[in-house]
This record gives sequence, structure tokens and C-alpha cells, in this order.
Amino acid sequence: MKITIFGTGYVGLVTGACLADVGHEVLCMDVDPEKIDKLRNGIIPIYEPGLESIVSHNVSAGRLLFSTDTEEAVAHGEVQFIAVGTPPDEDGSADLQYVLAVARSIGQHMTGYKVVVDKSTVPVGTADKVAGALRAELDKRGEELDFDVVSNPEFLKEGAAVADFMKPDRIIVGTDSEKAEGILREVYYPFNRNHDRMIFMDVRSAELTKYAANAMLATKISFMNEVSNLAERLGADIESVRRGIGSDPRIGYHFIYPGCGYGGSCFPKDVTALSRTARDCDYEARLLNAVEAVNMAQKHVLFDKVSHYFGGDLQGKTIALWGLAFKPNTDDMREASSRVLMESLWKAGARVQAYDPEAMKETQRIYGEEPGLQLCGTKEQALKGADALVICTEWKEFRLPDFEVISEALSHPVVFDGRNLYEPEMLERHGLVYYAIGRGRNQFSANGS
Ligand code: UDX
Repeated sequence: MKITIFGTGYVGLVTGACLADVGHEVLCMDVDPEKIDKLRNGIIPIYEPGLESIVSHNVSAGRLLFSTDTEEAVAHGEVQFIAVGTPPDEDGSADLQYVLAVARSIGQHMTGYKVVVDKSTVPVGTADKVAGALRAELDKRGEELDFDVVSNPEFLKEGAAVADFMKPDRIIVGTDSEKAEGILREVYYPFNRNHDRMIFMDVRSAELTKYAANAMLATKISFMNEVSNLAERLGADIESVRRGIGSDPRIGYHFIYPGCGYGGSCFPKDVTALSRTARDCDYEARLLNAVEAVNMAQKHVLFDKVSHYFGGDLQGKTIALWGLAFKPNTDDMREASSRVLMESLWKAGARVQAYDPEAMKETQRIYGEEPGLQLCGTKEQALKGADALVICTEWKEFRLPDFEVISEALSHPVVFDGRNLYEPEMLERHGLVYYAIGRGRNQFSANGS
């Protein structure tokens, strides 16, 4: 099938590349000529395992095209995916200007039936707005062409996006049109052969499903983070509690890992946007607001622990920081806990020596001018001359470091672990003081003790 994707960001590029890989003829359109130029040469702007090879393979096979020409893009596919950004505006609501601009372009250039698919995470009611914007352009042209607007939210995880797309848990499609349903079945046929993963529903339910899924996952994390703070104050160990509650299949082991807060492009943005949507229909989403507030506070927990350890005086201290990305296997720094930590450390007069396996370039882009930051080529270099070590991201290479090296390099033998990577006894054996999240009485942070 001929498919057009608007937006070559994270979602658009993965969708385009994976659909091309199963045999569709895909054209990805973006307004950024530099980006398109690079993509045509197989250079991708993000770090995502497996994506580069599948892009270059399908570009060479002629199934994956890139363009900056809107008219060509609209002409190409009967199916038109909208996968452009929906950044939060000042009050946290999703900004729909890019989505609606694409809808208008489709209305301006289409010459026959199109299925317009909302792939971007958009507030409930957006499909109606997309249809309205498109219809208005057709009216201006005096055309009465037929189209359907479908909601087909994406559930891929950064770092595992290609695998998630190729083997989805579910493919949600919101539509009231049988014709569109048939076309979407064909688009996803290669991913749906062994057992039916497609769930059809009305458009608004599909739009809400995406927010509800992300909000539920964020709630699980904030819940665990709250219990971890309680565990510290009660002298309990959250890791035992986690295993204890996860064994109940109704709760499950997934997404109950406590830590220094969730980040990324989805959870923080989507929880806020859903809460704003609620407010717009005169409903106060108290649970969502609490999920957000707990997470904001959790991002400060590591700083509070470090500050408390040094008696509230971090002036002139050097902190080694392992892990900058919001989670492993990505270079994404959006809403990363490391940012809150670094910014608090700088404010308190400390320096940071940081290392991340993939996010160094991105950190340089964001904080390149910051005098309190030194980016280091290895995790060992980051330790040199540092007073303490803090870990913000659970990259594999941090799982079993040489504790002797850490203990010798640091002027204070202390490790603050925001992801509960180690067993406390392991570090104690090497003479290291260990502070993690929610692990017993010695873990109090400044504002808790
Ligand atoms: C998420 C959803 O998982 C995905 O379905 C949706 O499409 C987009 O948002 P992503 O943002 O890529 O994906 O990351 P995810 O792996 O879900 O992690 C989000 C954040 O939660 C990370 O900062 C991670 O460190 C944190 N997290 C996750 C925890 O703190 N504890 C957990 O138990 C799980």
C-alpha cells in the first residue's frame, strides 16, 4: 500500500521505517530540509536501537522515500499518518498547531479519498478538529471529496521502539467508518497475522486510551515512589516490598520500580495534558495531579540526600554523575531526573563531572555553556577527583562496576543511587556508604529526617 507519514520525529520515523520494512511504499514528509537530506542518506537524528539499519535498508530497497514537498506527500498515500509533535503549551495542554497545519495541507491538495490517521498523542476531540480543518479547506476549494479521520495512537517505548512496533501488544484503532477499518486492517496485516491484536473502537475512546495507558503507568511509578519515601521513614526496604506486592498477579512486577522520578517525552507531558483536559470539562483530576506532584518531588530526592550528607554545604564540591538520559538505551534528555539534580547542584555551588553512554551530545547541546559541568569520556573519568558519585540512569554498564575503583577515586566514599542498582552489602564490603531509594532507615533525605 502507499502510505504517507507527516513528521519524521520519533514516532513518525519508526512508523514509516517499520511499515516500509513489511513491504508498504512509504513516503515520510518533514518541513526540515536538512533532516530530510540526512535521512535520504540513511543518517537518523536520534539514537534508537535497530532504527538506522532498517531506515537505510528500506531506503536502498526504494520502499522508504523522504520529501519536504507537501503536495507530493498528499498525492502519495491513500493513508496519511499525522505524526508531528504536540508540545505542551504554557498551561501544559497539548499544542495542536502542527497537527492542524497538516490537516489543512491534506485538505488543500487531496484529489481523492484519504484516510487520515492521528498517530500523535492528541487530546480527546482532536479527530473532530482535524476533520473540521480539512473540511474547511475542501470547502474553500469547492470540493466535496470523501475522507475519514481515524485515531491510531502509538504505544512504543523509546529504546525498544522498533521491537514494539514490529510486535505490538495491541493496535488500537478508533473509527466509525467501515471503509477506514478495512484499510487500517490492511496496513497492519503483517503485524497481525498470528493472532488478532487489533482493537477497534470509537474515535474518542481510542484517543482517551492512549492517555489512560500512560497515566496508569505513571501512577504505578508515583505510587511506588511514595511508598519508597514511606519505607525510608519506617525503616523498611522498598525492594522487598516491591517483590512482595509484584507477586500478586493483579499488581504484577512491571512498572513498580521506585527511582528518582519518571521522565521522557510522554509521561510528564501526557499526565499534565490529561489533567488540563479534565479541567476544561470542569473536572478536577485529583489523582493525576497527585501523580504529577509526587514525581516532581521525587526528582529532588537525590539532591536532598547529597545535600544532607554534606551538611547542607555543597559549595566547591565535585559530584560524579553516571547517567543523564531519562532512561537507558536512549539519548533523550527530555524531563530527565538528571537535569533537576544537576541544576540544583549548580545552584548550590557544586560542580558536576558527568558520563552517559549515549546522551553526551544531547547534554552538550543543552548545557554546553554551563561552567559547572564537565562531560567525561568514561564512567571512570567522571570519578576522578570527585567527592561523591550519583547514579541517575540504570544503563547496563553501571550494573556491576569495579567498586574498588569507585572507592579509591572518591574523596568521600559515598554512592547515591537513584535506581536501586545494587545490594547495600556489596558496597559496604568495599567500604562505600550507600544511599539508594527507599532502602531502610539510613536513607532519610534532608527534608525527611
Ligand atoms: C512510555 C510508555 O511506556 C509508552 O507505551 C508510550 O508510548 C510512551 O511513554 P517511554 O517514555 O519511552 O514510554 O519510557 P518508559 O520505558 O515507559 O519509561 C518512562 C519513565 O518511567 C522513565 O524515566 C523510567 O525510568 C521510569 N520508570 C519506568 C520508573 O521510574 N519505574 C518503572 O518501574 C518504570
